[in-house]
Amino acid sequence: MIKPDAVASGHIGAILHKINEAGFRIAALKLTRMSRDTAGRFYEVHKNRPFYGELVEFMSSGPIVAAILEKDNAVEDFRTLIGATDPAKAAPGTLRALYARNVGENAVHGSDSDENAAIEAAFHFAGTDLY
Ligand code: RTP
Ligand code: MG
Repeated sequence: MIKPDAVASGHIGAILHKINEAGFRIAALKLTRMSRDTAGRFYEVHKNRPFYGELVEFMSSGPIVAAILEKDNAVEDFRTLIGATDPAKAAPGTLRALYARNVGENAVHGSDSDENAAIEAAFHFAGTDLY
């Protein structure tokens, strides 16, 4: 996902360009908005963390871009492309170093496993939306 901060700041095009340049194939793509309920379920794993309420509020605060990306070793390579959660710690040139505002409003989400990628894809896309 391109998160609400990066969508609002006009970074959709630049981020998709970098995703393509890094060798990912876009299999599904859309501009959409998560309700509080959907954002809460999406990040349910963080339910007991102190930042959960803020995270759910932020992720439902405006439109996001949802995408399904394909590549060999996609999960690990995408996390390398996006950089550390805190942009102050993200390697130069990574999406978060370039576009994130802070540790909460950090421009991009990436799945942390193939299993979670499949679960998360189903939040946004029906099978027929995949190409
Ligand atoms: P994501 O799931 O969004 O790709 O991010 P991540 O794996 O790098 O980080 P994760 O630990 O899964 O945290 C999910 C999101 O919660 C927000 N967060 N805020 N205020 C804070 O200390 C804090 N820590 C995490 C961020 O939006 C983070 O991406
Ligand atoms: Mg995560």
